[in-house]
Amino acid sequence: MPAIVLVGAQWGDEGKGKATDLLGSAVEYVVKFNGGNNAGHTVVIDGETYALHLLPSGILTPGVTPVIGNGVVIDLAVLFEEIDALEARGIDTSPLVISANAHVIASYHRVLDKVTERFLGKRKIGTTGRGIGPTYADKMNRLGVRVQDLFDEKILRQKVEGALELKNQILAKIYNRRAISVDEVSEELLRYADRVRPMVRDTSLLLAKALDDDQTVLLEAGQATLLDVDHGTYPFVTSSSATAGGACTGSGIPPTRVDRVVAILKAYTTRVGEGPFPTELHDDAGDFLREAGGEFGTTTGRPRRCGWLDAVIARYAVRINGVTDLVMTKLDVLTGLESIPVCVAYDVGGVRHDEMPMSQSDFHHATPVFEELPGWSEDISGCRRFEDLPKNAQGYVRAVEEMSGAPFSVIGVGPGREQTIVIRDLV
Ligand code: GDP
Ligand code: IMO
Ligand code: MG
Repeated sequence: MPAIVLVGAQWGDEGKGKATDLLGSAVEYVVKFNGGNNAGHTVVIDGETYALHLLPSGILTPGVTPVIGNGVVIDLAVLFEEIDALEARGIDTSPLVISANAHVIASYHRVLDKVTERFLGKRKIGTTGRGIGPTYADKMNRLGVRVQDLFDEKILRQKVEGALELKNQILAKIYNRRAISVDEVSEELLRYADRVRPMVRDTSLLLAKALDDDQTVLLEAGQATLLDVDHGTYPFVTSSSATAGGACTGSGIPPTRVDRVVAILKAYTTRVGEGPFPTELHDDAGDFLREAGGEFGTTTGRPRRCGWLDAVIARYAVRINGVTDLVMTKLDVLTGLESIPVCVAYDVGGVRHDEMPMSQSDFHHATPVFEELPGWSEDISGCRRFEDLPKNAQGYVRAVEEMSGAPFSVIGVGPGREQTIVIRDLV
């Protein structure tokens, strides 16, 4: 049986959590392979709303084994806060499995994330302040602390000491902050060692065996294609690989076992944090999308920047991820608009670009070339079959499909699990 990868096609918050939840009952494993508690997934089941950050969305489905893969960075305090909050609501989190190779976010990572942003001033990234970037930087610098290090105090202290040596100089001399002691950090991390130990496994081996046993593994991305550190709008990105390639390195599942790649595309575009956004709206239409779509961050509560759908980005996401199936979310939010602009190309200094411009400065100067598609006014939140949608809503989906170059298999018409049109089963 195959591994299925699920990614975001835009700048995040496309509704990956709902899509993962939807697939939950048809898969045995749900693996989070990148990012950490910078993610925020809202899942609505029977009118109950769950906000997940670090835990894979599969945690909400009985019978699924949720896995935190090696590519994830873990804030242990957040991990147990989330586990306790779900347990208090009657969700059984005991099947959760965590990779021994996942890296750990420590207090100095959170401090550095915040002071670096302040230091950058106008050039800031607008991070979530969760310590994500500094933790991945340590991983690449070979100064990281991994989950397995928690089980050998001597090694843990050595690693923390190595990580703090230079950082304390930087904190004290450049940022004018107090130095952080090895004792303080070691104690902070060791506090969780006993509780986390039973959850820790060789997750790559576990998943390989599951695939050998004909079980289905869903690899769920945090963030999205344009926030990917390699393929996104660098430097206004997160620090991990959020695209389909990252699913393999972040889980230890080889590319030859991935059978399908599903990308979640919101019917319009949003972005949180800084960075270029060609179709961004600064007028009433932007306010309409924000209000109608409830576009306020799950993680930081920040209002999301809103704009029309960008088909250049959709096409790019299809190419970079090798998408086999698209899921359109939030089509219901567009109800009531007379006509709906979709960006089909960019104008950069008088030159038309049908593909993502190669250079950052061209993308910064890209103005959208719009095509207008006719809107609809009927409430579509109760539609359950594609044919139930008003003709113009069907036309919108079909037009975006043609522009993107991959077929839509699922359409979301509301936040609820059941508010979904399935054109083709994903599993
Ligand atoms: P994620 O980070 O990709 O998982 O997405 P978020 O959960 O941050 O943001 C998506 C929001 O849209 C959540 O509040 C979902 O409940 C909601 N949502 C998902 N699909 C739909 C849909 O088809 N229609 C509507 N109206 N809301 C949706
Ligand atoms: P989900 O999984 C939207 C953005 C931040 C910032 C940039 C870097 O819910 O789609 P970081 O803290 O990761 O170093 O911040 O990335 N960002 C997200 N935007 N959805 C997310 O996750 C995001 N995770 C990070 O706003 O611009
Ligand atoms: Mg989100």
